[in-house]
Amino acid sequence: MASELRFLGIETSCDETAAAVFTDSAQVLSSVVFNQHHVHARYGGVVPELAARAHLGRVIPVIDEALRRSETSLSDLTAIAVHHRPGLVGALVIGVSVAKMLAASLDIPLLGVSHLEGHVYAARMAAGRDIYPCVALVASGGHTVLFHAKSPLELVRLGSTRDDAAGEAFDKSSALLGLGFPGGPAIDSLAKNGDAQSIDFPRGLTTSNDWQSRPFDFSFSGLKTAVARYLEATPDYAKANVAASFQEAIVDVLLLKSLAACKATGIESLLIAGGVAANSRLRAIAQERCDKAGIRLRIPAPGLCTDNGAMVAALGSLMVSAGRSPSPIAFDADSNLPVEAVSLN
Ligand code: KG4
Ligand code: ZN
Repeated sequence: MASELRFLGIETSCDETAAAVFTDSAQVLSSVVFNQHHVHARYGGVVPELAARAHLGRVIPVIDEALRRSETSLSDLTAIAVHHRPGLVGALVIGVSVAKMLAASLDIPLLGVSHLEGHVYAARMAAGRDIYPCVALVASGGHTVLFHAKSPLELVRLGSTRDDAAGEAFDKSSALLGLGFPGGPAIDSLAKNGDAQSIDFPRGLTTSNDWQSRPFDFSFSGLKTAVARYLEATPDYAKANVAASFQEAIVDVLLLKSLAACKATGIESLLIAGGVAANSRLRAIAQERCDKAGIRLRIPAPGLCTDNGAMVAALGSLMVSAGRSPSPIAFDADSNLPVEAVSLN
């Protein structure tokens, strides 16, 4: 029997089946991520039905492996945390069902955790200390949201994308360029050989009118269309230049809005999380601009930016120590992000 408390985290919100074991002494004992990129690659994006089926086949082996690597037996577990929203509902339901089954059979608490809170908490884990309040940008394949993070469990939404998520724009533009899936890492790598100033791609929602009416919202669908038009109109285009200029437009707008949110709220601390936070150009330019503006920047290591089970397990641990009531066994997977604010209060 392990002496410390052990928390199992389960993540199946999109195309990674992940599980991790985390302790009350803030140690990640194991973190196993099985990605389904090979399943979706030929379609250029995540196919929800295929994602759900792949989770079904992998979720138990992934949990088993996380327990094995951490030398944890089921009876050592203190509680189970699972991402239950937002995400692909058929994918979420697999993780939620397994988490419920395990928690009920072991008679231990079950905690439903928001996937976006999980992404933000990854940065708290990486910092190893309190980082609140901060402005938090979560940029992933399914979401692009700016929060005022008051505490790990109290995220107030300042703005979000009106159409495509930043990661989705990477994935769709990568498909247009024939670079494969997932698009983010492919564009990130090719862009290193390109000229980021060579093509002036649009920065969505940055006119003076937009800054008045929706300063912290994003729009990336126009950028994707601009890439498509450019490719059609330019038969001899240089792929690396397109990749670099596209990436520059996304990075620029993500940081313009994030730093504007810091300014508007008076918060001198910015956290960037989610899969797109693994982007090397975003990480470099964010550091430059934050240094210049006197803002403290926190971005977790790339492996903690993309989907993983450690952030869920860690947030579950925090919820138990904060005395949060477990989720009722009847709680559901939910594809939606609540409209105005995300808070477990
Ligand atoms: O957070 P995440 O792993 O899954 C979701 O919650 O969606 O984010 C996945 C997204 C994908 O769209 C992927 O292309 C993007 O993150 N991504 C990147 C990079 N690595 C992953 N985007 C830009 N640059 C990267 N290096
Ligand atoms: Zn994610």
